[in-house]
Amino acid sequence: MADSLSIKDNRTGKSYEIPVQDDSIRAMDLRQIKVSDSDFGLLSYDPAFMNTASCKSSITFIDGDKGILRYRGYPIDELARKCEYLEVAYLLIHGELPNKKQYEEWKHNITFHTMVHENVKKFLEEFRYDAHPMGMLVSAIAALSTFYPDAKNITDENSRMLQIYRLIGKMPTIAAFAYRHSQGMATVYPNNDLSYTENFLTMMYKPPASPTYEANPILTKALDVLFILHADHEQNASANAMRSVGSTHADPYTSEAAATAALYGPLHGGANEEVLRMLEEIGSKDKVPEIIRQVKEKKRLLMGFGHRVYKNYDPRAEIIKKIADQVFEVTGRNRLLDIALELEKVALSDDYFISKHLYPNVDFYSGLIYQAMGFPMDIFPVLFAIPRTSGWLAQWQEMLLDPEQKIARPRQIYTGYRERHVSK
Ligand code: ACO
Repeated sequence: MADSLSIKDNRTGKSYEIPVQDDSIRAMDLRQIKVSDSDFGLLSYDPAFMNTASCKSSITFIDGDKGILRYRGYPIDELARKCEYLEVAYLLIHGELPNKKQYEEWKHNITFHTMVHENVKKFLEEFRYDAHPMGMLVSAIAALSTFYPDAKNITDENSRMLQIYRLIGKMPTIAAFAYRHSQGMATVYPNNDLSYTENFLTMMYKPPASPTYEANPILTKALDVLFILHADHEQNASANAMRSVGSTHADPYTSEAAATAALYGPLHGGANEEVLRMLEEIGSKDKVPEIIRQVKEKKRLLMGFGHRVYKNYDPRAEIIKKIADQVFEVTGRNRLLDIALELEKVALSDDYFISKHLYPNVDFYSGLIYQAMGFPMDIFPVLFAIPRTSGWLAQWQEMLLDPEQKIARPRQIYTGYRERHVSK
């Protein structure tokens, strides 16, 4: 069987052989299909990229039907059980897990860049007291590009790596500064003797008057695992934004600001915040059938359910459900958990959800854990952006090094007026 596709254009009667590689055809191969010499050629129309591969990538593999997620070939549950977040970040960026020496160096380099310029702190302090931390984060990441003009040097490998250290290192600091601002609390500077996650929790929660603060090791581990689960997810909306802006050769801070902005939306990283708002609104288990009825009548979405690629249980949701038990042993049970479990039970046995392959996604339970750990809802998408930074940067670097990539510039099918003239 030849690896090709035979296409007959019934408009002209002409036939074409289009090569098939990696179970796909090249959209550019369609361009030769024309009705006349002056014809532009056939386009493929794919709003929301439902069936278009925008790149070749060796970073993350997802099989949505089987519920498989792997980073660089390693199953997500193995990474979650055996690795620390920073090891996984190294894996995403470099393609291999680090050996001991490489890991020590990597940790040192990231830790060395956890501080931000005092002006970044001042800039954050100028936001309104009730500013959403995601708005602050997007702005602060974009602002970093003005502090590091050397980042424009995107073709230089050493410069790229320096920006990678800086971005992974500074994200927790900016996130914690934004949180403390919203609480009216003095900022806590990074402590480079602590692990990545412990340092973040300390910058978030250390009481201003207390000389010491020790993050609970179970909560630290739980957050570290959540960071691993959120580190990458191939060509999602925010990775696509990172690649798209990066393809213009903008510096990585500007590109990551765009990716973070994409993550802010309630259909993407903002979903776990929406899940909690929904659970709060439901209020008690007996209201679950009414919500399910509204969802089936298409009056609302069941937030935390459904996924563009997973048409099975999101493997991350399964791991998160297990972490929830450990966290609730420390923090006490989140009262919204019973409502969530009831929602899941009812939805998973209902034909509407079964026929549409709607299962809980990563956001369905993560918000409950974050809330139990004391994080306010506004900060949830920020907790997603911190670890996703390593994934975005891996995607960005891969895009830059891919000789087939160019500035990302889709086509359109114009549906507006043909030429017309101003009548005066
Ligand atoms: N609740 C109810 N119905 C849903 C839901 C949901 N959460 N999600 C999808 N559907 C229905 C749609 O109405 C549609 O029904 P139809 O075939 O009768 O028109 C069908 O299922 C297919 O849904 P699409 O919207 O076409 O699926 P798509 O792949 O475009 O959307 C998305 C995926 C955006 C995640 C969607 O499922 C959704 O909005 N979920 C709620 C928000 C959410 O939890 N987002 C987090 C995603 S995970 C992440 O970003 C980390």
